[in-house]
Amino acid sequence: MERESLSPFFCLVLNRMNAKGPIGIFDSGYGGLTVLAEIRNALPQYDFLYLGDNARAPYGSRSFDVVYEYTKQAVQELFERGCPLVILACNTASAKALRTIQQNDLPNWGNDKRVLGVIRPSTEAIGELTKSGHVGILATEGTVRSGSYAIELAKFAPHVKVTQQACPMWVPLIENDCYDSPGGRFFIQDNCAQLLKNDPLIDTVILGCTHYPILSDIISEFIPDHVNIVSQGPLVADKLLDYLSRHPEIERNCAQHGNVAFLTTEHAQTFDVIAKRFFGETVQSQTIRL
Ligand code: DGL
Repeated sequence: MERESLSPFFCLVLNRMNAKGPIGIFDSGYGGLTVLAEIRNALPQYDFLYLGDNARAPYGSRSFDVVYEYTKQAVQELFERGCPLVILACNTASAKALRTIQQNDLPNWGNDKRVLGVIRPSTEAIGELTKSGHVGILATEGTVRSGSYAIELAKFAPHVKVTQQACPMWVPLIENDCYDSPGGRFFIQDNCAQLLKNDPLIDTVILGCTHYPILSDIISEFIPDHVNIVSQGPLVADKLLDYLSRHPEIERNCAQHGNVAFLTTEHAQTFDVIAKRFFGETVQSQTIRL
């Protein structure tokens, strides 16, 4: 049937059905850009839409209800902007909001939408990364308290002993761009020392917050050389590649023009300056309200 002979309403429905959109990447702030950079390296052909809720970051010490509410608003925004798939590139949101969104909200938003997190891809890989079977997780207070890493690891690598260390000052230090100062370094050293004191057999440390890769050089000053420091970006990129190959019904809705766009809930100019450091490229964002 020719499109011209269809009613305008039916055309609209058809367009929606055929519409492809970018893969949405969400974080409370800048951290998810470290994941986006790796995903983009692995999947350069796809379009991406990044959303940083910088105005309300950090999420790390907020309650379950608040993190869920903020994350839900962000995911809904990305769906309304055409994303068929949203990655919560934030451990805190993955720990506190992902399951509720998947179970309670997704069914109301349509069965062609998906939301994935970053904790599962990381825990799936951890078992292969450690030789001693002792793994440390550096994360926000919210992620640590949720117990999500231990719960997921019990499924994929039950032999691994996990020791967690909450680093409540790290995201505020990063978001405010003052981590590489004597005060900032004090907190980084202190939390690393505490983790290794609690389990000296640790041979693998997971940066369980997507902001932390920006601290990699400083962290490695305070962690012995034989300990492997693992960022999540490459693990998540790998699992996303695999997910898209196993889910053609989602993959075919992902636009492929190699475009990347950025949204922030704070000042766009400030975001662009700091984001460049996380993403490794010049960024031009737009401010939105959630
Ligand atoms: N990047 C977020 C994470 O991975 C930071 C959370 C926060 O805003 O405190 O947990």
